[in-house]
Amino acid sequence: MNSELKSPSFLKNAQAKHGGDAAPEMPAPGYPASRMRRNRQAPWSRAMVQENGLSAADFIWPIFVADGEGVRTPVPSMPGVDRLSVDLAVEAAREAADFGIPIIALFPYTDPSLRSEDAAEALSPENLVCQATRAIKSQVPDIGVWCDVALDPYTSHGHDGLMRGSEILNDETLEVLVAQARVQVEAGCDIIAPSDMMDGRIGAIRNALENDGHTNTIIVSYAAKYASGFYAPFRDAVGSSTTLQGDKRTYQMDPANSDEALREVALDIAEGADMVMVKPGMPYLDVVRRVKDAFSMPTVAYQVSGEYSMLMAAAQNGWLDGDKVWMETLMAFKRAGADGILTYYALEAARRLKAG
Ligand code: PBG
Repeated sequence: MNSELKSPSFLKNAQAKHGGDAAPEMPAPGYPASRMRRNRQAPWSRAMVQENGLSAADFIWPIFVADGEGVRTPVPSMPGVDRLSVDLAVEAAREAADFGIPIIALFPYTDPSLRSEDAAEALSPENLVCQATRAIKSQVPDIGVWCDVALDPYTSHGHDGLMRGSEILNDETLEVLVAQARVQVEAGCDIIAPSDMMDGRIGAIRNALENDGHTNTIIVSYAAKYASGFYAPFRDAVGSSTTLQGDKRTYQMDPANSDEALREVALDIAEGADMVMVKPGMPYLDVVRRVKDAFSMPTVAYQVSGEYSMLMAAAQNGWLDGDKVWMETLMAFKRAGADGILTYYALEAARRLKAG
């Protein structure tokens, strides 16, 4: 047997090609001195060399809130996900906190009669999100409450901004977003998450909050949010799939681009974002990695509704082993550099992690 410790020639070639210091260090001698399987031989050795870990503290749990009391309405395109009335949302928050999930994100199903051209309901301190925020903050104070800032659950046309004709207005929308963020923060929201992709919204909201003395409010920017087909079940859940006219490509990003994502993130950091987000998740993990490497910011990724539905459907049909693939996808986010993961599977995942 050849006991000489030498690099295989392809490694040397790789080093030569990249030249000098840029070449990665390749300390590994070839086979058989190196046998990669040694470290994989048993649970204890695999645990020792594991590079990334998952814990409940990595999760942000998005839930859907609706009118009523004691009402739980399944979302057909998201098996296992229900719209919850405020009292049940409080129970969900308590359960999440008990499992160590640090943040719950609230999305409203607004009654169609309250949707309008000007999204006035978004500014009502009595809207569902504000009610749920107040209820959760008073009864489960230890969980962080995250509120989306965008108009789509409130507009009659399903867009995230105000419209004139077929145009989605940027600057006019900013004023409404600022007012929406204000009512949410006044209701007790800890984390404001503008998800609308209008230009300048982070700076506008940050200025307003600083002026109001809300200096501790965290802003998570949906900085690199793509115009994706994977949001369809979410739009069912918030009731905007039937109302939405056209698509969101004049404000959400082209899935073909990732340099542009870095510009988006850079702008939002400069405007005062505390964390940045990439969305959707699994199909965009390359963007998560680029953003994390370029900015070293707390980086959140959103495993969106369509990703959830896809996995659930396959698992329910027995085509995939749900238990295995769920944890695998969540680990993939960590490997890509995400610090936090929004996932509708958060509670289940936390339960599984606790069970060991
Ligand atoms: C709306 C918003 C969307 C999601 C979060 N906030 C949908 C959209 O942009 O159309 C999608 C989340 C998901 O699909 O799980 N501002």
